[in-house]
Amino acid sequence: MAVEKTLSIIKPDATRRNLTGKINARFEENGLKIVGQRRLRLTKEQAERFYEVHKERPFYGELVEFMTSGPVVVQVLQGEDAVALNRKIMGDTNPANAAEGTIRRDFAESIEANSVHGSDSLGNAEKEIHFFFSDTEIFE
Ligand code: CMP
Repeated sequence: MAVEKTLSIIKPDATRRNLTGKINARFEENGLKIVGQRRLRLTKEQAERFYEVHKERPFYGELVEFMTSGPVVVQVLQGEDAVALNRKIMGDTNPANAAEGTIRRDFAESIEANSVHGSDSLGNAEKEIHFFFSDTEIFE
C-alpha cells in the first residue's frame, strides 16, 4: 500500500448542523491526516465545474443547488491507501445502504445531502485536490 492524498468535502448539510469536528474525528481516528483544509462557499460556476461529469444526470441541477446552499469545508486527506480508505470511512453514497459506523450512515440526511464527498480514484483525487488547493497550501 502506498501513501496517497484524496480530496474530501464536508457538504452544506453537515456544516449547517455543526458536524465538521465530529466528521474530522472520524478521519483522524481511522488513520487519515488532514494536510489541507479551508471553509468556503462554492459559487454556482465552481459547483457546476466540479460536478461536470454528472452534467447529464437528472440530479445535476439539484446537486449544484444543494452544494451552493451553504458553506463547505474542502480538505486534503493523506494516509496509506487514502482514496479507498476514505470511501470506506464515508460509506455508500446512499445512506440507506451505508454500513454501520460510517459517516453517511451516522450523519447523512439523504442521497443528496450525504454530508461528505470523497474522490473515487487516485487520478480524480489529483484533479480534485488541484481544483481547490495549490501545493503551497498542503502541509504534511
Ligand atoms: P458525491 O460523492 O458528492 O458525488 C455526486 C453526488 O451526487 C453524490 O455524492 C450525491 O450526493 C449526489 N446525488 C444526488 N442524487 C443522486 C443519485 N440519485 N445517485 C447518485 N448520486 C446522487
